[in-house]
Amino acid sequence: MKTLITGGTGVNGAATARLLVSRGQRPVLLDNRVDLSLIADIADEVDVVTGDILDGAALREVVAAHDITHIVHMAALMPGPAEANPGLAVAIGVDGTLNVLEAARACNVRRVVYTSSNAFIGDVRGKHGHPDFVPLDESHPANPADLYGVTKVCSETLGNYYRKRYGVEFVALRYPSIYGPGKQARHGVLALYGKIIEDAMAGREVSIPRGGDQRNDAVYVGDVAHSVVLALNAGGLTQWTFNIGTGQGVTLEDFAVVLRRFFPEAKIDIGPGLDFREGYKQSYCVFDIGKAREQLSYAPRYDLERGIGDYIERVRTLGLPT
Ligand SMILES: NC(=O)c1ccc[n+]([C@@H]2O[C@H](COP(=O)([O-])OP(=O)(O)OC[C@H]3O[C@@H](n4cnc5c(N)ncnc54)[C@H](O)[C@@H]3O)[C@@H](O)[C@H]2O)c1
Repeated sequence: MKTLITGGTGVNGAATARLLVSRGQRPVLLDNRVDLSLIADIADEVDVVTGDILDGAALREVVAAHDITHIVHMAALMPGPAEANPGLAVAIGVDGTLNVLEAARACNVRRVVYTSSNAFIGDVRGKHGHPDFVPLDESHPANPADLYGVTKVCSETLGNYYRKRYGVEFVALRYPSIYGPGKQARHGVLALYGKIIEDAMAGREVSIPRGGDQRNDAVYVGDVAHSVVLALNAGGLTQWTFNIGTGQGVTLEDFAVVLRRFFPEAKIDIGPGLDFREGYKQSYCVFDIGKAREQLSYAPRYDLERGIGDYIERVRTLGLPT
């Protein structure tokens, strides 16, 4: 197996690359922004290619030159920048995915694993939202509430078409909120979990006016990497879209409780109530991960204690600023 990761030097790309390296692979990481900070520890064990998924011909050359057999397609424009620049959002999120699928088709790549999102679903209401949080499965209808979500729906649709029409095995993995090192620096408001951890690490006071009771499925980047590797390898699939999360809702207050174990001196003050994103996105939910358990043998490895512990250790090992 020879794996290309688009967006490979980003938060999830770096974690996935690290796991592949630990399994004896030398993945190729393609990214249009050269930032090696998240892969400093494995820089000699991966090939980094500066490239843009908008350049279909160049992408095809990379796939052919490295004899790529599997692609993890992660390159994306995040929700904020996507709203600010709809043309670029659609170019990267739709044309870019098309270029990846075309490269896969032209070069006989066996499987493309795509990182989708609960943005596919949009705002979560009714029994799947507060207070019941009935876990959401893959059949929940698409109803994106932002352009980022629209590009996820388009990419999944394109990928499923390429699988049926051309035999490119396309697997879509949908994630709820992800936390992991590097996200705060890159994703601002969407990285609140990371901000709390990094503020506590740096000895800064954590003060969040409200939202401490809001439940949400927060998955650690280590479980993202794990799920991607399982999806690259899984045989006998009878379905191609999987929800990946923890299957449980946690609150900011739960984060605070665990953080105080690591940093007993930390000053963490989180007000009660719901909606810590203050109206930005009503995507709080809990994913039903039964299908991933069944077909990918996926089981979450990182509860909050392990996830936060690994986050802290990784930030220190990589020497990332907090
Ligand atoms: N972080 C989350 O909470 C979350 C949740 C659900 C799904 N996802 C998905 O996971 C994937 C990875 O996200 P991440 O959190 O690692 O983000 P990230 O911003 O850390 O990584 C994305 C990478 O893509 C690169 N990129 C952007 N445009 C590109 C282009 N045109 N050509 C090549 N590279 C390009 C960026 O430079 C960046 O390094 C994305 O598809 C994202 O939608 C993330």
